[in-house]
Amino acid sequence: TPRHAADLIVFGGTGDLSMRKLIPALYHCDRDGRLADETRIIALSRGGLTDADFRGKVDAEARPVPQGEDDEGWQRFLRRLHHVSVDVGGSDRSGWGALSRLLAGYEDRDRVFYLASPPMTFGPFCREAHEAGLVTPRSRVVLEKPLGRDLASAQAINDEVGAIFDERQIFRIDHYLGKETVQNLLVLRFANAFLEPVWNSLWIDHVQITVAETVGTPGRRGYYDHAGALRDMVQNHLLQLLCLVAMEPPSRNDRESIRDEKVKVLQSLRPIVGSEVDRFAVRGQYTAGDGVPGYLDEPASTPPTEISHRVETYAAIRAEVKNWRWAGVPFYLRTGKRMPTRRSEIVVQFKDVPHAIFPGATPNRLVLRLQPSEGIHLLLMAKEPGAGDVTLRPVPLSLSFAETFQSRVPDAYERLLMDVMAGNPTLFMRRDEVEAAWRWIDPIIETWEGSGALPEPYPAGTAGPAGARELLARSGRTWHEED
Ligand code: BG6
Repeated sequence: TPRHAADLIVFGGTGDLSMRKLIPALYHCDRDGRLADETRIIALSRGGLTDADFRGKVDAEARPVPQGEDDEGWQRFLRRLHHVSVDVGGSDRSGWGALSRLLAGYEDRDRVFYLASPPMTFGPFCREAHEAGLVTPRSRVVLEKPLGRDLASAQAINDEVGAIFDERQIFRIDHYLGKETVQNLLVLRFANAFLEPVWNSLWIDHVQITVAETVGTPGRRGYYDHAGALRDMVQNHLLQLLCLVAMEPPSRNDRESIRDEKVKVLQSLRPIVGSEVDRFAVRGQYTAGDGVPGYLDEPASTPPTEISHRVETYAAIRAEVKNWRWAGVPFYLRTGKRMPTRRSEIVVQFKDVPHAIFPGATPNRLVLRLQPSEGIHLLLMAKEPGAGDVTLRPVPLSLSFAETFQSRVPDAYERLLMDVMAGNPTLFMRRDEVEAAWRWIDPIIETWEGSGALPEPYPAGTAGPAGARELLARSGRTWHEED
């Protein structure tokens, strides 16, 4: 059902995230009838575009369906779009005046400020929007990741934004929480009875969380040099996945209960500090391979600097959740650019049977595949047909979402944008969560940045540095690759 009319104001509205993700997601929401007729989408950027220019740009660069498909719907969507040039942090306030005129008379609508911009703009944007009188009681603000670059900067941003908006109005987005399989993980765990008795250190040997990407960082060095895999992926996406695997059952599916349980997990992570960093964390940087350049030779507007040499495009960490349920169960996290295949998954590996009577049994594994081909697979031991010796083989019991539900899998941003419009923050990160995540990440980054060593090189198109294999091999384990 269409919700009431809203004004969605996207700062960074002509940028990469907006054009690649937000605009297509909003179009699909519109097509599914989930935007009220009067809902407007107002892009803010420095470029002096008119509404017509912006609509033309979106039509040319961000049309998510081919010409000939839903032409009428696409035209209706384009008419929702507006553009206002705003200079945040500058002395020229005329843009805010133009935005005020566009919003005048619509104060009782839901108003969503979506900040798809670098984190240092979050504070100034909120302050200037407030000074322009645009922050109404029905306003909300969405903060894109990364929220700062360490605990101190995250706290400073949270304070600045918190001076203008209440915590209830602040939506810190982590788009992994909007992915279908990720939400399904909660359903799998908390709407089925059979897993809970074995979901602990008695039965689970370890957990692997992998987010492997084939893309590199062409044209992104300006951002990536100051991020690296730990800040770009682990602090947010991978730790959120870890939380959902490890959290205790919440008592309700409401805005705070799930977040309360997640933050407890983050607070239970065993700190990795000083000399332990070398034992429990591995970093790599891709070099040329597979017909593509290495990180340092990716096209960029400026040549690589000393910082570029130190930045990790791959990270693997052995984490531990120190509580009653999980003590002694390693959670291995890994993520990398320029991996051989795009694959994101959570693998829960069970222990060996207590007493083996058949030779050749391997432990059960539950694989939650986030992308591509979303699904859940439980690897069970089965007997190969035959009258001879008993031969065992792991066979997957599989749930493929595409086959089972035969419907389009919505992009994570569709779900999350609609949640913001409806004022539902369950799948967004609370201040204490973001800060707890930085508190755990900071000492690892500090050790890496303070060390003279560089990340281990790995050729593009290979599975990451040798150190990542050793991280598991030390305890007789291996990374789970394709089935
Ligand atoms: C973003 C990171 O948050 O997530 C990117 O900044 C990364 O570096 C992207 O490529 C991955 O998202 P997805 O949805 O494609 O797995």
